[in-house]
Amino acid sequence: MNKNDVCIIGYFTIFFVFCWGVYSVVFLSSNPTQNSTTLELVHVIMRHGDRNPDKVSIGLLSPYLDEKYYVEGYGQLLKEGIIRAHQVGSYLRSRYDHFLGQTWNIKYLEARTSDYDRTKMSLQLALAGLYPPVGSQMWSSNIYWQPIPYNYVPKSQDKELLAFRSCPRYAKLLSNLYEEPDIKKNLQRYEKTFRILENKTLRKIDPESAFYLYVGFEIQEKLGYRLEDWTKAVYPEPLHTQMKYFYHIITNTTAIRRVIAGYLLKKVITDTEAKINGTIDPPERKMFFYSGHEYNIAAVLQTLNQETFELPPYSAFIIFEVHRIDGVYGIKMFYQNYKQTDPVLLKIKGCDYFCPFNDLYKIVEKYLPENDDECFGSM
Ligand SMILES: *[C@@H]1O[C@H](CO)[C@@H](O)[C@H](O)[C@H]1NC(C)=O
Ligand SMILES: *[C@@H]1O[C@H](CO)[C@@H](O)[C@H](O)[C@H]1NC(C)=O
Ligand SMILES: *[C@@H]1O[C@H](CO)[C@@H](O)[C@H](O)[C@H]1NC(C)=O
Repeated sequence: MNKNDVCIIGYFTIFFVFCWGVYSVVFLSSNPTQNSTTLELVHVIMRHGDRNPDKVSIGLLSPYLDEKYYVEGYGQLLKEGIIRAHQVGSYLRSRYDHFLGQTWNIKYLEARTSDYDRTKMSLQLALAGLYPPVGSQMWSSNIYWQPIPYNYVPKSQDKELLAFRSCPRYAKLLSNLYEEPDIKKNLQRYEKTFRILENKTLRKIDPESAFYLYVGFEIQEKLGYRLEDWTKAVYPEPLHTQMKYFYHIITNTTAIRRVIAGYLLKKVITDTEAKINGTIDPPERKMFFYSGHEYNIAAVLQTLNQETFELPPYSAFIIFEVHRIDGVYGIKMFYQNYKQTDPVLLKIKGCDYFCPFNDLYKIVEKYLPENDDECFGSM
């Protein structure tokens, strides 16, 4: 071999080692089943699937303010939503097949939804995708489905999933924030938009109801119902930017984060801690599954990650995976917004991609409400 051959072999060796390195970092670390041996517990927070508009998000003068235009009824899931919610379950089945095992058992899973038709249906669909009956649990030769129980608390009591609707203190904190000088100044940009909306919808407009109208316009467009000409002045812009600013407001202070995201985070943290200290009941628990709203996804992401982002799409979901790596318990947070195939690993602000539980606790402690008064009490 001459000197050149040695060089070429050397280059190739370096090249292959480099490629292998890239491959193992990029591919193996993103391969969801790869770390399954360190996985201890999973929390999933999902938004419901595609739906019809709610009545309140349609202007009082709209030609489409009539339930006859919505086959399934106001606010109900569409077929696209049925498919998408089911796919979340199928995805989680493939991701956690080994971890969950294929047989359903009541101890493995706690499933909870908000008290809305669309979140209940979405949860049923996701669970159908997650636990198709196999082996001895098959009970019909043509129905590839088995019932899986889930729970919810009445709307007015749901601090975890419906704080935006059920907590009087949230409404109070929000309207106080509208009056904060910086926020008030920023909101002035949308003053003209709000007046147009008020004039054309005859609804009372504040940043939150404008946000709901934005969602309503998006749905109307998707259903193929032409938007009226006047909407061009407000939709998609500036309503789209206002929507993002609205998310900024609902997590603008620690006080409001404690209400809008804190109760759900407290449930996740408490359940995780119980798993770590061995008191989780039942000890076999592997997964907590929540079916909620874009509000839940947005509030949790903005509280932990603080990225400005788009409206969480239908069936978007967050996964908190509890891992035990080299004896250390910690959390990895993933977000699926369908911009890519697999959920993306996110960094919890102030921590690493794998955030040791004790570090995480120090970060979120200030967002964990002490009692129910922070939701139901007066200011
Ligand atoms: C909406 O604006 C138009 C034009 O300024 C005005 O004539 C009309 O009275 C307004 N309607 C309402 C309900 O405010
Ligand atoms: C609260 O909102 C103001 C005005 O938009 C902004 O300057 C500030 O950074 C926000 N604070 C947090 C914690 O988001
Ligand atoms: C374990 O964690 C749970 C949940 O935070 C807590 O209520 C309980 O007191 C802890 N128990 C022990 C023995 O540390």
